[in-house]
Amino acid sequence: MYYYSSKKIQKIKKKKQYKKKYINTYGWIKSTRYSKTGILFIDINDGSSIEPTQIIVKKKILKKNKIKKKKINNGCSIIITGLIKTNLTKNINEIHAKKIKIIGKIKNANKYPISPKYHRTEYLRNISHLRARTKLISSISRIRNTLIYYLHNFFQKKNFYWIPTPIITPLDTEGNSQMFQIKQNKKKFFNNTAYLTVSGQLNLETYACSLSKVYNLGPVFRAENSNTKKHLAEFWMLETEIVLTNIKKIIKLIKKMLSFCCKKILKNNINDLLFLIKYNKKDHISSLNEIINKKIITIDYTEVIKILKKKEKKFKEKIVWGIDISTELEKYLTKKYFKSSIIIINHPEKIKPFYMKINKDTKTVSSLDVILKNIGEIIGGSEREYNLNKLNQNILKKKINKKKYWWYLDLRKYGTIPHSGFGLGIERLLMYITNINNIRDIIPFPRYPNYLNF
Ligand code: 4AD
Ligand code: MG
Repeated sequence: MYYYSSKKIQKIKKKKQYKKKYINTYGWIKSTRYSKTGILFIDINDGSSIEPTQIIVKKKILKKNKIKKKKINNGCSIIITGLIKTNLTKNINEIHAKKIKIIGKIKNANKYPISPKYHRTEYLRNISHLRARTKLISSISRIRNTLIYYLHNFFQKKNFYWIPTPIITPLDTEGNSQMFQIKQNKKKFFNNTAYLTVSGQLNLETYACSLSKVYNLGPVFRAENSNTKKHLAEFWMLETEIVLTNIKKIIKLIKKMLSFCCKKILKNNINDLLFLIKYNKKDHISSLNEIINKKIITIDYTEVIKILKKKEKKFKEKIVWGIDISTELEKYLTKKYFKSSIIIINHPEKIKPFYMKINKDTKTVSSLDVILKNIGEIIGGSEREYNLNKLNQNILKKKINKKKYWWYLDLRKYGTIPHSGFGLGIERLLMYITNINNIRDIIPFPRYPNYLNF
């Protein structure tokens, strides 16, 4: 039997093919209402779009299908056969039911945790197994899907190769991360210490040094005890490595990538975005347009410090060349000073990982951080040090166990080549696109300190 989705039903309406058409459809009940004359109105949704489909069930159909009033509740799953009609006054499609069957009943209707009313996100987090049934979480999921689809599409169209870099690793990509260690049996399964990776970059570089333009997209893990609205212990990252390129070209690529994906989301998920505007009580389409129109200012780290120094009294910390740009400083720069998202380049070598290419001044590296207004850093990247001697020096300076990185160093021994890359935090970008201010509501099953329940 073919079941029409809500999305398909909406399309039928647009094409005006609905006249006298019997269809089968299904969904989970979102709300029910009885008219004075005993007609039952049911809103169902199957997740294919934000709009529910309205089902109209006459009294005699309820009787014929042996449906009792008490049994038809929010959350039940049902299948329906009926006639599509358009309610001209409401301009919506209705299915006038001929047959109706409850597939999944709910015993204690008043115990079903999701009601049609507004639920706080903190409450929903504690029912992560059911929260996908809300408009909020299902909208975010549809937007995430579009983003991932078009990220692949963007890189595929540019002839990049997708490389599945490993999740289990013996190595710390960044050189100073806190990592989750994997427990092994006494004999040690791998005969080596194993961790969950913080980034696939180093493995990705090995493929760039053969396939030239590569990217990965997968989960990464961080064990820092960061209890903030923008940190997760498990999140998704898209990374790319490209040979014979530099920071300038990488920035151009980043702007194109962000613009392309936001444009596609605006086109494909407009109803989800409209819902989110209503939910947030704030229209953030202008933020999307800023990205679509590539309005991001590039600025040197040293210039940033000069700007901050002038307003030093405003901030908790002392402003000196060499500090990391904290969330407070990011906020000041993007919201107050530039009134725009920014890309900071050429950071001090001291605050950046060993693999970044040292600039001629020997104090800074050829790095970039993309800082979006209201969110903060969403992308980190750099030119990679491809000179073996210099890379050896960086490793020594940063007190990194060189032995472990032997294969990474080999890339510089055998046919080295200049290359650059970056890593995009998927959930951080989604926070910007959806205007949802807590990353724990962006990922389906968030992992963070003291929380691993689903
Ligand atoms: O800046 P990060 O640590 O860079 C790297 O891992 C590089 N190896 C990437 C590369 O050049 N291939 O992380 C990249 C991005 C950040 O900009 C941020 O958006 C996101 O990953 N991110 C997090 N997102 C959620 N929770 C966390 N704990 C995150 N840590 C980083
Ligand atoms: Mg970073």
